[in-house]
Amino acid sequence: MILKIEKYPSPVLSQPGEPVTDFNDELRELIANMFETTLASQGIGLAAPQVGVSKRVTVIDLSVGKDPAQKLVLINPEIIEREGKLYEEEGCLSFPEIREKIVRAAKVRIRAQDEYGKWFEMDGEELLSRCMQHEVDHLDGILFIVRMSALKRDLTLRKIRKAQREGKW
Ligand code: NI
Repeated sequence: MILKIEKYPSPVLSQPGEPVTDFNDELRELIANMFETTLASQGIGLAAPQVGVSKRVTVIDLSVGKDPAQKLVLINPEIIEREGKLYEEEGCLSFPEIREKIVRAAKVRIRAQDEYGKWFEMDGEELLSRCMQHEVDHLDGILFIVRMSALKRDLTLRKIRKAQREGKW
């Protein structure tokens, strides 16, 4: 099922998600729906608060549906190591058509649970690293505009307000 994506400034996007404690069928259905929604939006990652569910669940698929082996579920994720810096363009499904350069760690090590509650660790580099940091931020209620320079954030917020006035947001 394709879920409705919450757009900025929906309040749920700014709330930290609740840790997941029940690894049940309902959770796995949410995950399946989140993958379907990400694919339908041609995105590479989605966090549960973006579909109105304030829980620490995120899905990533850098292949955009082309390679099932790249589907990644991160539940209760924590970034435990960060290395280097990258300054690249980034977007967010809750900010349609907005893309800005953001500084992120070039490499991260993440600790998370899978959809059955099993803990694992994995490394991410470049785009995967960026995506992991962006999605973990969502679970802390942190939106990517916060990571922009003050100047770019102002310009972005102005662009959004203009789109809102024109009924395009
Ligand atoms: Ni996002």
